[in-house]
Amino acid sequence: MEDLFSLRGKVAIVTGGNGGIGKGIAEGLASAGSDIVIAARNEAKTAEAARDIKEKFSVRVMGVNMDVSQEKSIQAGVKQVLDEFEQINILVNNAGVNIRKMPQEYTVEEWDWILNINLRGAFLCAKTVYPTMKEAGGGKIINIGSLNSLYSIAKVAAYGASKMGILSLTYTFALAWAPDNIQVNAILPGWIDTPLTVSARRDFPGLDDFVCTRTPAGRWGKPSDFAGAAIFLASHASDFMTAEYLRVDGGFAQGTNSVNPSGR
Ligand SMILES: NC(=O)c1ccc[n+]([C@@H]2O[C@H](COP(=O)([O-])OP(=O)(O)OC[C@H]3O[C@@H](n4cnc5c(N)ncnc54)[C@H](OP(=O)(O)O)[C@@H]3O)[C@@H](O)[C@H]2O)c1
Repeated sequence: MEDLFSLRGKVAIVTGGNGGIGKGIAEGLASAGSDIVIAARNEAKTAEAARDIKEKFSVRVMGVNMDVSQEKSIQAGVKQVLDEFEQINILVNNAGVNIRKMPQEYTVEEWDWILNINLRGAFLCAKTVYPTMKEAGGGKIINIGSLNSLYSIAKVAAYGASKMGILSLTYTFALAWAPDNIQVNAILPGWIDTPLTVSARRDFPGLDDFVCTRTPAGRWGKPSDFAGAAIFLASHASDFMTAEYLRVDGGFAQGTNSVNPSGR
């Protein structure tokens, strides 16, 4: 039987793949044999991540300087990838930012900054790679949402709107491109230990205890926790699955064990 989870011969672009969850996903896809493109703005961080992934896995790795809030930057980056690798089979829309404050405190610039990266960026990246996936006879798009794609908290007006929007985009792309054999799904992370949540721990005193108590798994997630879900959604194993989301949250969204001191 064919190895359902093999990604040998595939090329994957991971936006924001130079750190955090994106790097965990890039490493997971590389471990299944995919060539990797890391697309992000910080060139030194991208070069270091590319070196690290190349050293660990025998795949080709390319760093591309890309700002997903700029259409021209996306188009130039995708052209660079096609010039080098001639195909793009997997796109992971992972680049994301947040500012946590009450709705009335946001400036229009802050709102636009978040929406332009988290939501419009994902739209533009998918739209830009679509023709090459269609021409190749199929592809996989994985959008990184959040538990804020399902539930809200007071201080995420812009981020929450972008992450609920990501689910809507996931469903729309999936329906539009199913006839082209392109599957589009989302991963919704819970509380994950990355640079993004270092600032959350500052903004919400007591967050660390809350996360560890409330999460049935009893810990923060790690970037490497995303490797398995990403391989599944990027591989033939998920070929009849589209317009779906997977929560990777240690059980957080389902509830809590913390009412019972034994933790069970
Ligand atoms: N950590 C969590 O608990 C959590 C929970 C739910 C959802 N998420 C989602 O998971 C994704 C990754 O987050 P993370 O926690 O790994 O955060 P992170 O460590 O801060 O990583 C964010 C990545 O996005 C890139 N990025 C930011 N703006 C960009 C732009 N304009 N163009 C291209 N790349 C850009 C950054 O690279 P450069 O700065 O080099 O561009 C960085 O690699 C995000 O979509 C986030 O919303 C995270």
